[in-house]
Amino acid sequence: MKGIILAGGTGSRLNPVTIAVTKHLLPVGEKPMIYYPISVLMFGGIKEVLIIARPEDITQFQRLLGDGSHLGLSIEYAEQPRPTGLADAFVIGADHIGDDSVALVLGDNIFHGPGFQNLLDEHTKDVQGCVLFGYGVKDPERYGVGETDALGRLVSIEEKPLRPRSNRAITGLYLYDNDVIDIAKNVRPSPRGELEITDVNRVYLERDRATMVDLGRGFAWLDTGTPESLLQASLYVRTLEERQGVRIACLEEIALRKGFIDADQCHRLGEALGNSGYGQYVMDIARELSA
Ligand code: TTP
Repeated sequence: MKGIILAGGTGSRLNPVTIAVTKHLLPVGEKPMIYYPISVLMFGGIKEVLIIARPEDITQFQRLLGDGSHLGLSIEYAEQPRPTGLADAFVIGADHIGDDSVALVLGDNIFHGPGFQNLLDEHTKDVQGCVLFGYGVKDPERYGVGETDALGRLVSIEEKPLRPRSNRAITGLYLYDNDVIDIAKNVRPSPRGELEITDVNRVYLERDRATMVDLGRGFAWLDTGTPESLLQASLYVRTLEERQGVRIACLEEIALRKGFIDADQCHRLGEALGNSGYGQYVMDIARELSA
């Protein structure tokens, strides 16, 4: 399975912060936002990642992440000059996907909760059709909303409905089989010229090939698109990290635990981060797991 992170868009709700810096490089806790969606792909065992971003932001992403080889990943970059919709990821990323299946994560979404890794392991193995992830929210009318039957098969999708049929928002993590490329290429753009992911998901729904997995209570799905939600996400992450002494979305740790790199490599990555608390943590983890 290949991975795509959509990290374009204008981030206009965070102006003026996002005039000079893309939202996806702003800190959430002590890490750049993009670490969180990368961690989601790594949890799913995905090593080949395409980051889609505005042309003017790509150099900065490259400075941060390079070609990903230090983490045992292969990271490539592609340009999306304007926000032409989430489903455009499959058109831009068609060569990257090749004849494989694909996981798309939105660059400003944070997922954290017990059992997430097992859930991803289970669902990334052999994707048939599309797999969406639903999350109960108090204001479903702001989101794409999915309704499932008792077997988890999707029976309806509504985009920002006035009277939602369920409280399950469709989150920014989507798994698809290879048909998604053709489906996205044939979706008609919205009046604003965007390729809507809801239209892609509707095709899968009509073919009876759409599933939605419920993330459940106690799980955190956080958006970071507004000043308030960005602050809340930072506080959530730091509260858990401080209390438990662990780091959320520490890419070096995940790479080590997944066997993408060894303890020596991990330790060197920590050293290179100088005297930051994050760098210290990476070195501690390397020492702990090599013992
Ligand atoms: P949004 O939050 O919908 O848009 P935005 O990031 O441009 O922010 P704002 O509404 O404040 O202007 O986008 C969700 C995520 O998807 C975000 O990480 C940006 C990304 N995205 C793209 O990369 N390309 C696109 O065409 C769109 C619509 C979003």
